[in-house]
Amino acid sequence: MRKKIVVITGSPRKNGNSFAMTDAFIKAAEKKGHTVTRFDAAMKHVGGCHACETCFKTGKACSFDDDFNVIAPAIMEADVVVFSMPVYWYSIPAQIKGVIDRLFSFCVAGKDISGKECVLLTCCEEDDMSVMDGVRIPIERSAALLKWKMSGEVLISGVLNAGDIEKTDGCKQAAALAENI
Ligand SMILES: Cc1cc2nc3c(=O)[nH]c(=O)nc-3n(C[C@H](O)[C@H](O)[C@H](O)COP(=O)(O)O)c2cc1C
Repeated sequence: MRKKIVVITGSPRKNGNSFAMTDAFIKAAEKKGHTVTRFDAAMKHVGGCHACETCFKTGKACSFDDDFNVIAPAIMEADVVVFSMPVYWYSIPAQIKGVIDRLFSFCVAGKDISGKECVLLTCCEEDDMSVMDGVRIPIERSAALLKWKMSGEVLISGVLNAGDIEKTDGCKQAAALAENI
């Protein structure tokens, strides 16, 4: 089955490690015939959630009109949502956190976005898998709350500089994951 995949990245490094995994994932997904729409949150304007709870009342997902309102319709339509980001301070980078926080708009407005698949691609400098818990656990719990199924994760530790991912099997894992979507 051909699926609509939306990919949301969080790194500001276009030549970085999570982008390399993202590119490998997308290449393999498109080869399988899936349709991929990509948003690089760090190159967009997405602020945080204002908790005003006026979501979808203006016709758009968020009353504070920024690039989240472009990403939101793509999420609603998607069969698969892919989050790709590095670990920043044991947590989710600010660049993508606004997108994740504003998934709240679907809950507030009672939009049924259940039944999607979710994928996580992440990496960190330290050679310790638990460093990625600060990204992995919020994504897994958010997916569970939204009734999305985690279809796979690529978690790569020990990568600091752009290009370090090539010393790992991260891109291979990301491509293999896309092949099984
Ligand atoms: C602001 C900032 C905070 C970071 N915090 C952590 C951290 O808490 N733990 C860690 O292992 N690596 C940390 N790193 C390293 C990145 O996770 C690592 O370099 C990663 O490979 C970057 O991915 P990218 O090339 O896709 O941007 C941090 C990097 C930056 C720029």
